[in-house]
Order: sequence, then C-alpha cells, then structure tokens
Amino acid sequence: MEERGYILYVPNEEEPGKDSEVFYNSEMVLNRDISEIAGKVFREAVETEDFRVCDALSASGIRGLRYSKISTELHLNDANPEAVKSIQKALEANNVEAETHKRDANVLLSDYRNYFHLIDIDPFGPFTNYLDSTARAANHQSLIGLTATDNAVPTGSYKKTCRRRYSSEPLKNSFMHETALRIYIKEVFQNFARYDKAFEPRICFHERHYSRVIGRVTESKKRTNKNLDNIGFLSFCRSCRWRKLERVERCENCGSKTEIAGPLWTGKIIDIRFTEKVLEKIPKEWEGSLEMVKMLHNEGELLAPFYDIHELASNMKISVPKRRRVIEEIGTKGYPVSRTHFSPTGFRTDAPINDIKTIIRELSESDNKP
Ligand SMILES: C[S@@+](CC[C@H](N)C(=O)[O-])C[C@H]1O[C@@H](n2cnc3c(N)ncnc32)[C@H](O)[C@@H]1O
Repeated sequence: MEERGYILYVPNEEEPGKDSEVFYNSEMVLNRDISEIAGKVFREAVETEDFRVCDALSASGIRGLRYSKISTELHLNDANPEAVKSIQKALEANNVEAETHKRDANVLLSDYRNYFHLIDIDPFGPFTNYLDSTARAANHQSLIGLTATDNAVPTGSYKKTCRRRYSSEPLKNSFMHETALRIYIKEVFQNFARYDKAFEPRICFHERHYSRVIGRVTESKKRTNKNLDNIGFLSFCRSCRWRKLERVERCENCGSKTEIAGPLWTGKIIDIRFTEKVLEKIPKEWEGSLEMVKMLHNEGELLAPFYDIHELASNMKISVPKRRRVIEEIGTKGYPVSRTHFSPTGFRTDAPINDIKTIIRELSESDNKP
C-alpha cells in the first residue's frame, strides 16, 4: 500500500476498523494531508532548531512518516504489537529514522514532560482520554492535532454522554456539526489551560464521520486568561432559526424561548493567516484537500453559525432557491458571505436573519415565475 509516496505494510481491507490487525483507512488522507502541511507551516514559523514529533497512536505509522521531513526527532507509538512491526517495516522501506514504542500512549506521553513540538492524537472514538498527557507533553511552543470520531455525542444523539464526557449541552439541528466542533475545541482549550498552556485553534474542521482540531500551544497564563473570553454559549431559536454565539434566553428576532448549547468555543475556528500559508504550501494535485482548505480559509473570518438553505426554505414554507444565487445576492447587498465546509447546502454570513430570509423569498419567487 502507498500514500503520497510512502510505502505502508497494512492488510488490504474494504472496511478497516477497530478489529483490523493493523489499522489503515485510506479515506482519512485529507485529514493527514492538512495535518502534514499544518505541521510544515508551524515548523517554519517556530523559532527552534529541534523539532520533536510524536505520533502517539500511530497504527501503520503513516502520520509519523508524513511528519518525518519536518522533524529532527520522530517518535511513533502504538500499543498493538502488530502495528509496531508494520511501523518498523515501513520506516525501513521509506528510509526514515524514528524511535518506535509499544506503549500505552498516556504512559509514553507522561514520560516526556514539555518535550514535543508536535503531537498527533488520532484514536478510535474520542480524544478526551489523551488530553491530560498531551497537555503535559506539549512543549511551550507546539502544534497539537487531535481527531475525534464520536461525533454522535456532541451533535446531540447522546445528550447524557455529552454532558458526562464534555461537560457541555449539545444541540441537535442543521448546524450541529459546528456546535460539536466548538465543544471539542472548548474541551481541548480547558485541558491545556489547567497547565497554564494556551491552546489556540489554527485549522479545525469536520469531514464525514470525524472532526479534526489543530491548534498552537504556548505556555502563557496571560494568553490563556485572555482566551477564557472565547468560552461561552450558543443560542438558537427553533421557531425562526435565528442563532447567536452568546447566551440569550429570548430570540432577538421573534422573541421565542431559545435553546442553549455549551459551554463551547465561541471564537474563530480558523486562523486565516495560518490557512493562507497552508494554501501556499499544499500541492495542487491534492485536489480534495486543497478545496477543503480554500473553503476553510474563505469562511474563517465569519463567526455566526452557518445556515442551511433547505432548513430556511422549509421554515419559510417556500421552494429552495439555488445556494449559489443566495450567496451572490447576500454579497451584492454588502454582507460578508461564503460557502461552508460543513455542508454542501450551507452558507455562512453575518447578515441579519430577516435580510437573509427576504433574499431567499425573492429568489424562490423569481424561480417560480412562469
Ligand atoms: C485510529 S488508529 C490510528 C490511525 C493512524 N493515526 C492513521 O492516521 O492511520 C488508532 C490506533 O491507536 C492504537 N491504540 C489504541 N489505544 C491505544 C493506547 N492506549 N495507547 C497506544 N495506542 C493505542 C490502536 O492500536 C490503533 O492502531
């Protein structure tokens, strides 16, 4: 098997999963593409000669291999002995030097206090079990990437599990994956904050069954305190679909009682100075990943949770106009607007909901004119 030129030793399976002898999912290539380039961008920005990388849940070793060009010291770990054998074969075949470990990731990371400049956490399910050891092992200047595949929990299918695992109230609606991502970021931020380390999102996204949180860590009480302002709540009106990244008991548009999610991260989930550099570095041939970063970059400055065109049209009991035309029209009226990576039928804008609805109604009516 090969990925982006790296040779791997993994079983050829249609549905890789927890029971695979050695896990490898080729569909996660976008996650690894963006992580690799984010690592490169961070490596160039950071003022350090050493750059120590830990792929703590490595499976086939693919993530570690993809970070090998930027690391001065590479650690690849997996608790599964078969995975470690595959990692060692892959290191040899690709002519890459690394230390390999066959340990529990938490135990390994706990042995390397303040050590790593890049830590990748890519488990089955939630990353919460690894947050404490990751926060301890993170260097005072580091980049942390974490994958979560328990999206059903913070999107509201298992409310109690969400309260237990994330101490947050989820919200099941059309933008639930954004709410979930904000709950994940809050959880990461708070865990680092306990160690006086400030976690700041650089490029966070959702794709298919998983979410990915990538951010910079600096050791700074001041910065951590400042970012506490980004922990808050989200309000949603099921009656008129108004939403706001603040705790508001009554809808500011129609006066109905709101539903509240959180606590969650209310700040930006994308740093456009960072994604700009990622866009400069990402190979043009990695089309899907490039397209994703472009979308993330374009929506990065817009804070209001995204809208879904079908949801709004159904709420207004009208037929659905084309998203492209809605976006054009909102832009023409002078509001910032973009597509969103969260949904092919979504868009993001700071325009007031009544202005958005007026545009949608006019376009829907003009579509239906004989
Ligand atoms: C989702 S896979 C990692 C996939 C890999 N990072 C990639 O990009 O292809 C999770 C891996 O974590 C390993 N694992 C599970 N629990 C672990 C633990 N407590 N410590 C170390 N490895 C663990 C599993 O054996 C499995 O190989």
